[in-house]
Amino acid sequence: MNKTILVTGGLGYIGSHTVVELQNSNYKVVVIDNLSNSIKEVAERIVSITKQPIQLYVADINDHSSLEALFKQETIEGVIHFAAHKAVGESVQNPFKYYRNNIDGMITLHQVMHQHHVKTIVFSSSCTVYGDTKSSPIEETHPVTEAISPYGTTKLVCEQILKDLCKYSGFKGIILRYFNPVGAHPSTLIGELPLGVPDNLVPYITQTAAGIREKLTVFGNDYNTPDGTNIRDYIHVVDLAKAHVKALDYAFAMDQDYEIFNLGTGKGYSVLEVIKAFEKVSGKNLPYVMGARRAGDVEQIWADATKAEKLLKWAHQFDLNDMMDSAWKWQVALNDSNLGKIKDTTS
Ligand code: NAD
Ligand code: WQD
Repeated sequence: MNKTILVTGGLGYIGSHTVVELQNSNYKVVVIDNLSNSIKEVAERIVSITKQPIQLYVADINDHSSLEALFKQETIEGVIHFAAHKAVGESVQNPFKYYRNNIDGMITLHQVMHQHHVKTIVFSSSCTVYGDTKSSPIEETHPVTEAISPYGTTKLVCEQILKDLCKYSGFKGIILRYFNPVGAHPSTLIGELPLGVPDNLVPYITQTAAGIREKLTVFGNDYNTPDGTNIRDYIHVVDLAKAHVKALDYAFAMDQDYEIFNLGTGKGYSVLEVIKAFEKVSGKNLPYVMGARRAGDVEQIWADATKAEKLLKWAHQFDLNDMMDSAWKWQVALNDSNLGKIKDTTS
């Protein structure tokens, strides 16, 4: 019998792609999402990609009784936990929103899992836990440092809670530290749906090319990098989603309490290289200007992902051109569909 997996935040950007890959790998999927940063239509689109049903609970993971009801109704054997707020800037403005949703949500979820003897979990963390690193590539053994935002604090705290539960309460946990997820599903049916003006580079690029934004501002070209702009490790969201399935398989089989994996390609690209790749695959000229540095930006960071490659037997398949191509095709599809209107992705 196939295992049933609960995916929290399964209608969001990374969650929706992961649900597709779980179903492709014959897992049964139950999703809980409160639609705070997603829309119900994503569920229908996942079903049209995989032709398999999803059990959807529109509810909040902070709501203990909803989670109780879900765990009573379904035979959950493992959990992938995406549900969280993720906007770094907003977390600085409103830290309590982030502490409440991301940390309280994590605690409530794990408490209900514990009560129902469900102990296998994959948790979405971030390279933000490495803080302002001085040299790359970054291995998982690199020390985590004081967070550079309240959002980052929530990831550090949640990692620690999960480690505790693994050490003392029998949980088997995988912590996945993503670098910069970008791109969209090749079907162009699912992708990133940023709310309002995007903070992140790639949706800002695609919205600019689509004429929604006037021009991109490159945040700083006086860094100590070959072309002066920041370097990041961009990873295709489909590669990332596939890594979750491998991580889950690994968690079900592992003896150790927990394991941490970086998920990136192991290669860094500058902002200007990203722009060039976008222009090449889209055939568009991107209007951009050089601007001031953005507060809190790390100069350069990329992953050492060899641990995931070795232990999870995972490897990324898509390169930067594929990432830009799929991001652009998604933007075009979004403009043509009703999704962008249902969720205001442009104002
Ligand atoms: P997203 O906002 O697209 O998806 C999160 C989903 O969780 C949304 O559908 C939202 O409605 C839901 N949600 C939020 N709070 C909830 C709650 N209390 N109860 C139920 N549902 C809730 O974000 P994403 O980009 O898919 O990120 C998923 C996870 O990965 C997050 O934990 C995020 O912190 C982490 N992460 C993201 C990135 C990135 O750049 N996208 C990088 C590193 C880590
Ligand atoms: C990438 C590069 C910008 C926008 C964030 C979070 C991190 C993680 C991933 C969740 C940087 C530059 C951007 C623009 C620009 N998320 N840029 N003009 O900052 O690496 O990471 O997302 O865990 O925690 O902080 O990603 O996409 O915002 O920026 O020049 O309009 O693009 O300065 O160098 P970042 P990003």
